[in-house]
Amino acid sequence: MDPSSEEVRWSGMIDKPNLEVEIAGIKLKNPVMTASGTFGYGEEFSPFIDLDKLGAMVLKGITLKPKMGNPPPRVIETPSGMLNSIGLQNVGVEMLIKEKLPYLQKFNTPVIINISGDTIEEYIELARRLGEVSKEMGVAGLEVNISCPNVKKGGMVWGTDAKATYKIINSIRKATSLPLIAKLTPNVTDIKTIAQAAEEAGADALSLINTLVGMAIDIDSRKPKLANISGGLSGPAVKPVALWLVWQVFQTVNIPVIGIGGIIKVEDALEFIIAGARVIEVGTANFVNTRVTIEIIEGIEKYLTENNIKDVSELVGSMKI
Ligand SMILES: Cc1cc2nc3c(=O)[nH]c(=O)nc-3n(C[C@H](O)[C@H](O)[C@H](O)COP(=O)(O)O)c2cc1C
Repeated sequence: MDPSSEEVRWSGMIDKPNLEVEIAGIKLKNPVMTASGTFGYGEEFSPFIDLDKLGAMVLKGITLKPKMGNPPPRVIETPSGMLNSIGLQNVGVEMLIKEKLPYLQKFNTPVIINISGDTIEEYIELARRLGEVSKEMGVAGLEVNISCPNVKKGGMVWGTDAKATYKIINSIRKATSLPLIAKLTPNVTDIKTIAQAAEEAGADALSLINTLVGMAIDIDSRKPKLANISGGLSGPAVKPVALWLVWQVFQTVNIPVIGIGGIIKVEDALEFIIAGARVIEVGTANFVNTRVTIEIIEGIEKYLTENNIKDVSELVGSMKI
């Protein structure tokens, strides 16, 4: 008999496994979140999936003022992935609060706001403003983007240097009591030193990876395919790199790790969890299959049931070597 079948469940032979996890003090129904920039402000996906089923929603990166982003073309397909140079186009924090967050109130799913800025002061102001409205607007936590490769100021500049990482995370830590997740870049020599700096500075969790810097050329015009020349590579092509870095970071820090990078199916998510991710984020795959997050949640439950694992936490960092 299929151990994951309803018949077996109802017969009481196998209890439903526990998918609940806690990250940075935020309680999640399951370990599947959306990756910033690939899920809009949540509302765009509600015609396709039940937002109540998600572990948490991480929204498009927000800045103090609205941003138009970089000129097009700014998205191209690559073998097993894509390059983007969106440049943090977003509605700005005031419109987020006024027009985007109210819609998400009806869902019982934590909302995490991904924040970006050109200066430390901007990050601090964002954290302060979102802290002010957090109860009323249901802001569960902040994911601090110190890893965007597509902006001239700020972005990756913070996340590629351990001292700068410490400085920015510590400054935001002092400005807010909201749960803080530091989002790390893979474009570094040694991610472990950056992870340690973020932990020491007071981050409650780390998420990784953001995109890898890359480019593509049109051989007829000999022009770069992206107007910005370079962009961030994401999708299945980056998965082995992301997995390796998650494992490295998992062994280095004591705070929870969120795995991101090329997750398109349940097996990918399970690999990240086994490598040490307590939670995972699904990014580029949302553009290909709007239901992918739900399929991954169902897949994790099935895997746990079939392998007689009672709690998803038992899998975290369980790689055998
Ligand atoms: C179009 C696009 C926009 C993105 N925007 C953001 C963003 O605003 N903030 C951020 O921290 N990461 C952003 N990312 C990075 C993703 O959240 C994720 O870290 C990365 O794409 C790797 O995961 P994936 O391979 O599953 O897409 C963006 C990625 C894509 C493809």
